Amino acid sequence: MVVKSKGIPLATLLLILFLSAIFPTSFSNQVLNSKKPIPSSSASSLGSSVAFQIKGNVYPLGYYTVSLAIGNPPKVYDLDIDTGSDLTWVQCDAPCKGCTLPRNRLYKPHGDLVKCVDPLCAAIQSAPNHHCAGPNEQCDYEVEYADQGSSLGVLLRDNIPLKFTNGSLARPMLAFGCGYDQTHHGQNPPPSTAGVLGLGNGRTSILSQLHSLGLIRNVVGHCLSGRGGGFLFFGDQLIPPSGVVWTPLLQSSSAQHYKTGPADLFFDRKTTSVKGLELIFDSGSSYTYFNSQAHKALVNLIANDLRGKPLSRATGDPSLPICWKGPKPFKSLHDVTSNFKPLLLSFTKSKNSPLQLPPEAYLIVTKHGNVCLGILDGTEIGLGNTNIIGGEKISNTNKF
Ligand SMILES: *[C@@H]1O[C@H](CO)[C@@H](O)[C@H](O)[C@H]1NC(C)=O
Repeated sequence: MVVKSKGIPLATLLLILFLSAIFPTSFSNQVLNSKKPIPSSSASSLGSSVAFQIKGNVYPLGYYTVSLAIGNPPKVYDLDIDTGSDLTWVQCDAPCKGCTLPRNRLYKPHGDLVKCVDPLCAAIQSAPNHHCAGPNEQCDYEVEYADQGSSLGVLLRDNIPLKFTNGSLARPMLAFGCGYDQTHHGQNPPPSTAGVLGLGNGRTSILSQLHSLGLIRNVVGHCLSGRGGGFLFFGDQLIPPSGVVWTPLLQSSSAQHYKTGPADLFFDRKTTSVKGLELIFDSGSSYTYFNSQAHKALVNLIANDLRGKPLSRATGDPSLPICWKGPKPFKSLHDVTSNFKPLLLSFTKSKNSPLQLPPEAYLIVTKHGNVCLGILDGTEIGLGNTNIIGGEKISNTNKF
């Protein structure tokens, strides 16, 4: 499935940091004029973090999940991680339409209903004039995702037990959606996960809630391995002490997005015609998307560079739009990456080192033995000029 991201709701001002090695990134909307990275470990009372193991991969699965425990006694739900949207929701036994889990694995609502007059309720409404019929009315929500899927439900609060890196266990009451009507469209299959973990920048995200309860610093990071899996963390304790690059995040019209200032693309360390790309970090999108013009330029650069090499365009692979085949099928990226050049994204407003994209980071070997470009044409699927860094083997840390 392609763009999973639910959204691209918008944000404030952030700093991003990219760790060069596997290339993780970090975002922060913290301080515009702060050029300094946040201290990676401090004696501060907010110095604790929570870490989650990530499962999943870009191909063939197309999504990443973490297990989140909810309730008391807790039950565990596998949620799709999405830095492109705010609201966390789980399939709910309410009764449920479009739910894909067996009934005993649905969330049974027993938390406190969030009221319509609660500020968190106004924060998730897309309509500008949020109206409540009465003080005790419940808070209904509806989220729509870029892949045309949606979830409709009611906002409630329940205990979410979290183990912190300092050894403490906390059970904050956090607000999330109890989704009783899920839809999906077109070629996208119904969700196979129990719901979505919204990691956006807006106030309804679990991160913002933990930060406003004073439990973590406003940092979120994830590190995704090329072999699948990885880890996710909240708080600033697990930021690698070196290899991190910071760049300011833009104030964007949609509050839950982590969007960078303009970046220029380099191919094989040389400048290209692709300049001034603004990028949104969105783990809910399986792939990375460039606007048509940038995408065409990139495909041409790669095609020219492949001349004389034992690779030719493979047109019959249904996995992805742009693929190449070799003399015999490739078994892994290892067999083929030496034929491709590294890409770099250089953020024009930061003096830091650029974000490195080695071939492993932008190529995928399919089950048909072809190597395909993991950067897709976003304009073709209706993203217009938006450029998205998807969940592909990229790590990022956002200070929100
Ligand atoms: C550990 O961190 C949590 C979250 O920041 C905090 O609530 C708790 O008091 C800390 N525990 C100790 C023993 O410092």
